[in-house]
Amino acid sequence: MNDIDVLLDERRRFRPADDFRQHAVVRDPSVYERAAADPEAYWAARARELDWFTPWNRVMEWTPPHVKWFLGGTLNVSVNCVDRHLATRRDKTAILWEGEPGDRRTLTYGELSHEVNRCANALRTLGVGRGDRVAIYLPLVPEAAIAMLACTRIGAIHSVVFGGFSPDSLRDRINDAGAKLLITGDIGYRRGNPVPLKRNADTAVAACLSIEHVVVVQRTPGTPAAGAAFHAPRDVWWHDVMRHASPDCVPERMDAEDVLYILYTSGTTGRPKGIVHTTGGYLTGVAATTKDVFDLHEDDVFWCTADVGWVTGHSYVVYGPLANGATTMLYEGAPDWPDKDRFWALCESHRVTVLYTAPTAIRAFMKWGDAYPARHDLSRLRLLGSVGEPINPEAWIWYRRHIGGDRCPVVDTWWQTETGAIVISPLPGITETKPGSATVALPGYSAELLDRGGKVIPVGGGFLAMTRPWPSMLRTIWGDDARYAETYFSKWPQRPDLYFAGDGAKRDEDAYFWILGRVDDVLNVAGHRIGTMEVESVLVSHPAVAEAAVVGRQHDIKGQALAAFVTLRAGRQSSNELRDELRRHVVDKIGAIARPDDVLFTADLPKTRSGKIMRRLLRDIAEGRALGDTTTLADPAVVAGLKEQYESMES
Ligand code: WT7
Repeated sequence: MNDIDVLLDERRRFRPADDFRQHAVVRDPSVYERAAADPEAYWAARARELDWFTPWNRVMEWTPPHVKWFLGGTLNVSVNCVDRHLATRRDKTAILWEGEPGDRRTLTYGELSHEVNRCANALRTLGVGRGDRVAIYLPLVPEAAIAMLACTRIGAIHSVVFGGFSPDSLRDRINDAGAKLLITGDIGYRRGNPVPLKRNADTAVAACLSIEHVVVVQRTPGTPAAGAAFHAPRDVWWHDVMRHASPDCVPERMDAEDVLYILYTSGTTGRPKGIVHTTGGYLTGVAATTKDVFDLHEDDVFWCTADVGWVTGHSYVVYGPLANGATTMLYEGAPDWPDKDRFWALCESHRVTVLYTAPTAIRAFMKWGDAYPARHDLSRLRLLGSVGEPINPEAWIWYRRHIGGDRCPVVDTWWQTETGAIVISPLPGITETKPGSATVALPGYSAELLDRGGKVIPVGGGFLAMTRPWPSMLRTIWGDDARYAETYFSKWPQRPDLYFAGDGAKRDEDAYFWILGRVDDVLNVAGHRIGTMEVESVLVSHPAVAEAAVVGRQHDIKGQALAAFVTLRAGRQSSNELRDELRRHVVDKIGAIARPDDVLFTADLPKTRSGKIMRRLLRDIAEGRALGDTTTLADPAVVAGLKEQYESMES
């Protein structure tokens, strides 16, 4: 593996600068030992930074694989993210928003409170109550955050679905959660083009029996967009229901373990998993990590570039920053619209101080060239974060130099939808960083590398595991607790208390982690997890396809790209048109994020004698490597033919 060589060569080190360290939120390295000596006491102290209606009577209860945190405690997330700041921050900007066309809005904490309360009352009027599920399918507009917070106020469970997903993906998620209400927009924008959200929503909802109402946010100025049919009384306009709602809504007293939200993520089977997060532990984890990792100070302008459709958007666009009373920035559109300096123009004009983005974006910026950031004054930036996939050392160095002016610390943060909050990351005022390493677990967590047998590997390569529960961990998979136990707690049968993250990693002499990526059949394309099975099921649903195997290959910008090997049904001919049609089919059924870069037609797939598809060989072919051991194949001639075909396709 090439990566490992690069990592071993990486000897550059960056220590926190003195003035950064002196003003950092976390300065005292002894926090690691104190937290390790009594993790429950550590997390209880962090939970006490939130406002509770009633205190808990027990910090944690662990009956693997099920955990509860802050038992008996009650709180409300919207109270913690909004109400409790009103006394001191009523006029402080909570949400700073810019749309792709350049329109801008700001909401102070006072205004946010107004909107959240009205939305909460509107939802109640539409029949939504405690425990009901609400699906949210919106562009990145302030209404997305308002709707999420409004759900938390009345104890409804939100399920945000990324606006780039297809109607079929939306339908499946609504049906799995049994959502009662859908909040969508008339349109969204992407690179100047309108995205027909409402039309997609209508297609989806036609096959969703549970949906009673669709609330539509009007994104287009002036008269509502044409083409979006309106089905009264099912459909209602957001601005109509908000106009009639009162700005005072008594918050529900939620139990710490009440479900806060469901968020769907890809797994190794065709069906997405509804990751379940609860109230008290999740908010404790995201509030604490936002403050510590991003070194939040009162006058920071924090910009996490993720969409609210992903967990990063939940934890670090909405809940973490707002729980801390920070100013959080939202940008609706693409980084290269209207030009490749849009992010830097945004940083300059909104005076962003902390930027949190993904390696896939950083690699694209690198490719576009240094001139784009150089056009802008980025001197307000003081801290940079990275998340979503391994960041290669060169991209890390480029980010530090060209965006951070060699002045800002870089925090590479490892975590997952399932962990809810950042787990492995530097603390910028304490940790010496190494480009490409997420460094060590934050205080209160216990991450280890284990071998197949569950033995700890102090130095070397292995499987990343969590050996103790943490407050913001997922509690189950919605409607499928057996799959929860099987996916995360069955890797080491003799140790059913160990959480398996699905990632491989290396650990160096300083006990730093170097995350290598997924070890299961899940790919990471541009920071988004895609189950290869999911794409295969969609390909096979096309009438021309008999069998399909999807693997990942390295990609300069996206990290990984999808390569599909497809066998056609008898009588069907391969052609460039069919190749495009299959790509379109995947986009229609899942969304553009799952579009295969390569589609290769083949008469046969390489299989073992027991009939298992040899993905390792397909990956070798897709990445142009010499073929490894083919002796276990049922028919070794198949791969040789495939390799030849692949190489001729690329030329
Ligand atoms: C997977 C989780 C958590 C927010 C975004 C993705 C990969 C995430 C890093 C990092 C190396 C990383 C892992 C992980 N990943 N952050 N800093 N270094 N890999 O959330 O969709 O749940 O994906 O993303 O493979 O398991 P997600």
